[in-house]
Amino acid sequence: MSLPDQSQVIATAPSATAAKGPTVILTGDRPTGPLHLGHFVGSLRNRVAYQHDYKQFIMLADAQALTDNMDDTNKVHRNVVEVALDYLAVGIDPAKSTILIQSQIPELAELTFYYLNMVTVARLERNPTVKTEIALRGFERDIPAGFLTYPASQAADISAFKASLVPVGEDQIPMIEQTNEIVRRFNRIANKDILVECKALVPEIGRLPGTDGKAKMSKSLGNTINLGATAVEITAAVKKVYTDPLHLRVEDPGHLEGNVAFIYLDAFDPEKDKLEEMKAHYVRGGLGDSIVKKRLEVVLQEMLAPIRARREELAKDHGYIMQMLKEGTMRAREVAAQTADEVKAALGLRYF
Ligand code: TRP
Repeated sequence: MSLPDQSQVIATAPSATAAKGPTVILTGDRPTGPLHLGHFVGSLRNRVAYQHDYKQFIMLADAQALTDNMDDTNKVHRNVVEVALDYLAVGIDPAKSTILIQSQIPELAELTFYYLNMVTVARLERNPTVKTEIALRGFERDIPAGFLTYPASQAADISAFKASLVPVGEDQIPMIEQTNEIVRRFNRIANKDILVECKALVPEIGRLPGTDGKAKMSKSLGNTINLGATAVEITAAVKKVYTDPLHLRVEDPGHLEGNVAFIYLDAFDPEKDKLEEMKAHYVRGGLGDSIVKKRLEVVLQEMLAPIRARREELAKDHGYIMQMLKEGTMRAREVAAQTADEVKAALGLRYF
């Protein structure tokens, strides 16, 4: 397996240069379940920051979610609204960021159709992300063609908006590489730089482990804390948080490595000095897990209470959410349609 080409990956967003016009960011989520603390750390809070300086498009990738959810289309439909609520609840502002629904922009499907001719089946089968996902889903030989080819669709998502920055997790780097291959191939065919190459913007702060200590917080592993979690759910989750299995008695010295309670405190406790004291005490011995968890509980309850309240408030106004999604999608469609028009013209597909 080849290592990701690091020239296509950056950790911090470059400052926007007015001269070249606004830098465009495109990012997205498959709406298959509510978002959780892992999403908050890995992407949502960055999006809240980026929206002030960039032209940011955030895609609810419902069509991509269907590539492996044809047996549960209702789940995808429902979660479009759930994820939209999560976005707004954490502070993504629809006046600053454009939130769009992928399936409602037919030009994305159109672009995908042409891009599929610029990529080989062998190349798709080699895509490390697709490979891993195929193994995880146990498709073996029965891979839905739409699933195997979704990198071409993701290339359409990104290039339709001429995005040059794509904030994603590390697992998505192969998607960016494949997008850039398609972009370069197309521009060569067009003999003109119509499409824009992009860079993956991968946050330095790694991913948040699950409450059980597994490397990743994931709905399917049942080790998440959702952004809309109730106070009772938060309490229950904190009780189960994995700490140091060798820390049997309060007097024993404790370990911080892999200790989820401290990893979460590092991520969310605003009182860093007190946290450092707590860590030193824990390592020395004499500090019980129950005290650490009590602090974690306070921190998470305080952080999530306003998000939950905002989410509940917004959920009452379904009409507003749908209107917001419709307006964002319409704005986005204009951009995508413009690109699709240029692409088709360059391919000799403009007749009238
Ligand atoms: N594949 C991405 C994921 O699973 C979601 C996604 C769809 C996306 N289209 C995108 C991410 C475009 C970035 C850009 O998380």
